[in-house]
Amino acid sequence: MTRPLKPSSRRPAFVHLICAATIFSLLVFAIQSFFFTGSRTKYLNSEDVQILSDFQSDVQQCVANRGFGLTAHTIDHCKLVLKFPEGTNSTWLNPQFKTYEPLEYTYDVCEAVLLWEQYRNMTTVLTREYLDARPDGWMDYAAKRIAQLGAKNCNNRTLCEEHLNPILPAKPPFHPRQFHKCAVVGNSGDLLKTEFGEEIDSHDAVIRDNEAPVNEKYAKHVGIKRDFRLGVRGTARNMVPILNGSDNEVLVIKSVTHKDFKKMIDTIPNPVYLFQGIVLRRGAKGTGMKSVELALSMCDIVDIYGFTVDPGYTEWTRYFSEPRKGHNPLQGRAYYQLLECLGVIRIHSPMRAKRVQDWSDVPTREKIGRAHAAAMRLKRSQEGGDGAVGQFSNCKVWGNGGPYGSGPVSGAKDMSSKRRNSNYSKWEVMPFKSLRKEAQEHYVQMEGVSVYKMDGNKLDDLVCVKHPLESDA
Ligand SMILES: *[C@@H]1O[C@H](CO)[C@@H](O)[C@H](O)[C@H]1NC(C)=O
Ligand SMILES: *[C@@H]1O[C@H](CO)[C@@H](O)[C@H](O)[C@H]1NC(C)=O
Ligand SMILES: *[C@@H]1O[C@H](CO)[C@@H](O)[C@H](O)[C@H]1NC(C)=O
Ligand SMILES: *[C@@H]1O[C@H](CO)[C@@H](O)[C@H](O)[C@H]1NC(C)=O
Ligand SMILES: *[C@@H]1O[C@H](CO)[C@@H](O)[C@H](O)[C@H]1NC(C)=O
Repeated sequence: MTRPLKPSSRRPAFVHLICAATIFSLLVFAIQSFFFTGSRTKYLNSEDVQILSDFQSDVQQCVANRGFGLTAHTIDHCKLVLKFPEGTNSTWLNPQFKTYEPLEYTYDVCEAVLLWEQYRNMTTVLTREYLDARPDGWMDYAAKRIAQLGAKNCNNRTLCEEHLNPILPAKPPFHPRQFHKCAVVGNSGDLLKTEFGEEIDSHDAVIRDNEAPVNEKYAKHVGIKRDFRLGVRGTARNMVPILNGSDNEVLVIKSVTHKDFKKMIDTIPNPVYLFQGIVLRRGAKGTGMKSVELALSMCDIVDIYGFTVDPGYTEWTRYFSEPRKGHNPLQGRAYYQLLECLGVIRIHSPMRAKRVQDWSDVPTREKIGRAHAAAMRLKRSQEGGDGAVGQFSNCKVWGNGGPYGSGPVSGAKDMSSKRRNSNYSKWEVMPFKSLRKEAQEHYVQMEGVSVYKMDGNKLDDLVCVKHPLESDA
C-alpha cells in the first residue's frame, strides 16, 4: 500500500481494491505457510534428522579411514557426495556421451539404507506362490521371464508351465538369516595377487559369478567351496562343464529362462532357480551387485572378494581370461565403498589384505538400525502417508502360500532320470526345523510372511505371501 500510485479520479476505488487484494494474498500466504510449516515440521523431525546426520558423520569417517583417498562430503542429512582424490586417472570414456568417467558421485544415504536393509528380509528366488499372488503374475510377469516364448503373455498357461516348472519351486527354497557368513567372489584379476582361498572356503556359503572356474589351479586364490552361482542368460550353454563335479552348487539364473536352458537343466543334477528382484530393462548390468543382493537375502555377513575396488585401475580384469571391455571402475568402486560403510558388505582386496581385519570404523548394526528407522519415518511423513513404518508397510500385494506339506517341488514330468534321482530339490524339501535358529526366529517375527520385490530396485511395492506358522515353512 506504500506503493506510489498514479493520481487518478478513481483512486479511492483503486486503494480499496489493492487493500482487498493484499489482505487476500496475505491470507492465502498465511494458510499456505500454515500447511507448509505443518508438513515441514513433520518432515524435518529434528530427532530423526539428528540421527541421520550423526550416521552421515559415521559414514564420512568410515570412508575417510577405508576409502584410499575417497572422501565423503555431506550435502544434507540424506545426501552425500563421494569424491575421488585430485589427480585420479579417469580414463574410462563413455562412448555414448563422449565424456570421461566423473570423479564425484552423489548418493542418497537414506534411500540406500532403506533399500539394502530391506534385502535382509527378502526372498530373491522366483516361486510359484509369487506368481500366484501377483494379479498379473502368470499372464504378464511370467511371460517376461521366458525368452523366446513365442507369445506375448501366458494365455497358454501350459506352455509357460513347461518352461518354468523345472526351475519354479512352490515356496522359497532359501530363507533370510539362513547362513551366518557368506563370501561373494567376483572375477577380478586381483584375486591372483592374493591367496584368499582358505579364507573364502571358511564361509558358510560361497557365491560365485557366471563361468568363474573353481579348480586346483586357482584354489589358493579363489577357494574350492561351491554353493551358489549366479549366471546371466548368456552363460547357460557353458554351464554344463562348469557345474560338472559339483552336484550341489545352486545355479541362480539372473534374467530369463530359455529353450536352451530347459535342455541344459535336464542334463545336470544341480538345483536351478530364477533370481527375483532384477530390473527388467535392457542393459541392467552388474552380476556382482545381484550376487550381493542374493547373499544379503540369506546371510548375516557378506564378505566380497575379487571385485575391482582398489585405486589405480583403468579397466576391469578377470582372473581366468581376458575381460570384457567397457566397464567403468570408478563408479563401481565408489558404490562398493559406500556399501561397506553402510554395513552391507565387507571388502577384501590386495590393498586391504595386509591390514588386520578390523571393522570397528564401520557403523554398528545398532546404529544402522536406528538410521534405518529414522529414514523410514522421514520417508513416510514426506509421502504424507499414515506414518505406518512396520515391516509390512510396503506390502502392496498379499497372497497366501501353503500349507505345502511334503510337496510340491520344482521339476518337470518328463525330466531325465539323472535329474529325478539327484538331490536337486534338497533345499525345497529341507524341513523348517533343520534351519538355523536365527532363520527360524526371523520367520516367526515375520509372522510366516515371505517378502518379495515386485520390480527391480524400487523400494516400495513388495509382494508378501503369508504361510501358516505352525504346519509348514
Ligand atoms: C592414465 O591412464 C592411461 C591409460 O591406462 C595411461 O596411458 C596414462 O599414462 C595414465 N595417466 C596417468 C597420469 O597416470
Ligand atoms: C498350449 O501349449 C501346449 C504346450 O506347448 C501345446 O501343446 C498346446 O497346443 C497349446 N495350446 C494352444 C491352444 O495353443
Ligand atoms: C565331467 O568331468 C568328468 C571327469 O572330470 C569327465 O570325464 C566328463 O566328461 C565331464 N562331463 C562333462 C559333461 O563335461
Ligand atoms: C542325496 O542326499 C542324501 C543325503 O545327503 C545322500 O544320502 C544321497 O546319496 C544323495 N543322492 C545323490 C544322488 O546324490
Ligand atoms: C526385518 O525383519 C525383522 C525381523 O527379523 C524386523 O524386525 C524388521 O523390522 C524387518 N526389517 C525390514 C526393513 O522390513
